[in-house]
Amino acid sequence: VDLQPLHTFGLPARARELRLLGGQSDLLAFARARQEGQPFLLLGEGSNTVFTSPLVDATVWKVALKGRRYLGCDGVCHHVRVWAGENWHQTVEWTVAMGWGGLENLALIPGCVGASPVQNIGAYGVELKDRVSAVHAFDLDVQKECIFNLDECEFAYRDSIFKHAAQGRYVITAVDFALPVQWQPVLGYGDVAQRVAELGSVTPVNLLKAVSAIRTQKLPDPAVLGNSGSFFKNPIVGAAQAKALVQRFPNLVNYPADHGQVKLAAGWLIEQCGLKGHVLGGVGVYSRQALILVNLGQGSGSDLLQLVQHVQSSVQRKYGVLIEPEPNLIPGFSEATTPGT
Ligand code: EPU
Repeated sequence: VDLQPLHTFGLPARARELRLLGGQSDLLAFARARQEGQPFLLLGEGSNTVFTSPLVDATVWKVALKGRRYLGCDGVCHHVRVWAGENWHQTVEWTVAMGWGGLENLALIPGCVGASPVQNIGAYGVELKDRVSAVHAFDLDVQKECIFNLDECEFAYRDSIFKHAAQGRYVITAVDFALPVQWQPVLGYGDVAQRVAELGSVTPVNLLKAVSAIRTQKLPDPAVLGNSGSFFKNPIVGAAQAKALVQRFPNLVNYPADHGQVKLAAGWLIEQCGLKGHVLGGVGVYSRQALILVNLGQGSGSDLLQLVQHVQSSVQRKYGVLIEPEPNLIPGFSEATTPGT
């Protein structure tokens, strides 16, 4: 099967076989294949997975569990369950249209609902962890459904248990959201507040519109220019290192992070290295946002890997900071993974 249309970066790649995970019997078939030691790869909508090798010698299992259900209101929150194969942005639009605010800052993030907890997607001051009450998963080891409550998900910046201890063992099947009845807008990030003000009243609908407008302006549409959103995570450094860096580079963009650490803007670091718009073979650093790598059309996996190395070593040389890719870079052989977006 052709994998090029199955991941948003759109590099040329093929896999041995594609199977859909649409229900219980598919999950059981997947569990058995995994137990037999067959190589596999779990895929969502492919916005956080990049196939960097032309041949993936594995069966690709694509999550296709569908459905959305209103579970009720306990006076504090509306509770909603959404199955893993639903599109993320359509889910955000649906909740807002139903009058349940809370997810609007996460508008237009590519990918499916099942992938959203894996890296605890976040944007404009809201993270998935702020709105999730539980994650349902199919345990491939014991072939049973199980539930991770909020604490058990171990959410952190672009991180969760599904990238660590739980990696490879579970298929996320559904996510439960708790959306506050007393809705409070989150307006603190960048020019979000100003954009909403321009639209008139501050409502979930207008916040959704504002965030969508900002993202459409800054982020390339994967249908036009292949990409995986932010390609690098914003690096987190210790207070002492941050202080030394600010002394040498007074304009360094930085934000306070947990435990007294400091988060640096990888996009700023890359731009300061003169790499905005830099092209290598058929791939490049996006000309309007240095944190995003794009497929200019004829890109190959080896072009991309070379560009990643070049960006990393440039930032390392100038700032002594390692920036790490956010998407899963898939080599030619298979590995047990949790679903990418
Ligand atoms: N910046 C530059 N040059 C650039 C890009 C950014 O100087 O080319 C500076 C900006 O001026 C700003 C700072 O870096 O001062 C931060 O930039 P921005 O507000 O665009 O946010 P980000 O840190 O680049 C993060 C998330 C995005 C999310 C936005 C908004 C990560 C890796 N990225 O980007 O998430 O949408 O904040 O909340 O955390 C994603 O994960 O795929 C993603 C798009």
